[in-house]
Amino acid sequence: MAENGLLEVPRGLDKVVVDTTSIAATDKDGWLIYRGYKATELAAKLHFEKAAYLVVYGSIPNDAKLKRFSSFLESNSSIDGATDEVIGLLPMDAKVIDGVRSVVSMLPLRQKKPDMQMLEMAAKMPRIISNCYRAKRSMKPLGCIEGNYAERFYYLLTGKEDVESARYFERLLILYMEHEFNASTFALRVTASTLADPQAAFTTALATIKGPLHGGANAEILNYMLKMKRKSEAVELVDRKLGNKEKIMGFGHRIYKTMDPRAQFIKGQLRTLSKSRKMGKLLEMAEAVEKEMWVKKGLPANLDFYAAIYMYLLGIDEAFYTPIFAAARSFGWAAHYMEQVANNKLIRPDSRYTGRTGLKL
Ligand code: COA
Repeated sequence: MAENGLLEVPRGLDKVVVDTTSIAATDKDGWLIYRGYKATELAAKLHFEKAAYLVVYGSIPNDAKLKRFSSFLESNSSIDGATDEVIGLLPMDAKVIDGVRSVVSMLPLRQKKPDMQMLEMAAKMPRIISNCYRAKRSMKPLGCIEGNYAERFYYLLTGKEDVESARYFERLLILYMEHEFNASTFALRVTASTLADPQAAFTTALATIKGPLHGGANAEILNYMLKMKRKSEAVELVDRKLGNKEKIMGFGHRIYKTMDPRAQFIKGQLRTLSKSRKMGKLLEMAEAVEKEMWVKKGLPANLDFYAAIYMYLLGIDEAFYTPIFAAARSFGWAAHYMEQVANNKLIRPDSRYTGRTGLKL
């Protein structure tokens, strides 16, 4: 206990429990669970819409509820012409994630209820991401295709109608969907706790996810992985970066200290995917880097490490990586917004002042 009856907690709120949640957790065996189910099992067996419904509403939907939810996502997925004009005005060098954040902050919403507004923004994310990317490359927006959420999203990223690749992609989206009080979700809950509107909370989360210690990590992994020519270079790469006191993106995690189950699941998917794409060498090199990081630093690969390679093999441009994470996580954000406002308490910590006192003018 610090002075004045205040409670002093570790910096970065490391290992500090700040509130309850019934949405997701890491269980005692290190598995990430969504509403009681292992996230990796959901990724293996469910389509995105069903998993998203579970995260948002807390239970697996029956067919009628799933149909309503899926058609809500589809019918709310488009954006109006004025929003497209705003996208056209974004600076040419704006990153996709910056464009998405700016657009979401002023998006005209059809839905009136706050929970439905959160879902409407989530539904529009694939279209906003695609149009922001294409506008900066002087490409016309893509049209719409028939299909589920992952198939439509995959098409908007690659221009390809490819059910098999979309199914691989969908598994990653499910694993990206939720992770209890991660930085962007916590930031969203801080904004929601002030009783700001859903759009303000969603924008806060989008701003927070951008950082390389959070959602921005996945966009930096290919920078070093694609420079490698053979797996024996892993030792040199890790030694050089650690010697320079650089952080190696895709390693370490606040919660997972020995193994990130999501990373291991995606690595398993990569084994089949890399065979069919004849790109096994990249996976071999990645495993060599993973091994070397464990030996030299005792840090496990996190989801982003294998996700970056996975998306590369799926033919997705690196500029999309962080926005894809944000789009998937936006369903987790919707659940957390609702949970926060349903039992609200303003989130406003205190601090220990270390500045000067008693100065006179
Ligand atoms: N590469 C090299 N060293 C790393 C590292 C990495 N990726 N991640 C952590 N470390 C080191 C830190 O330098 C620190 O070393 P020290 O004790 O010698 O100072 C130690 O491991 C603890 O790291 P710290 O950053 O304090 O842990 P944290 O719990 O606050 O941070 C992350 C967790 C995720 C922010 C951190 O592991 C990281 O920056 N990883 C890289 C970014 C990334 O992949 N982000 C995606 C997360 S899903």
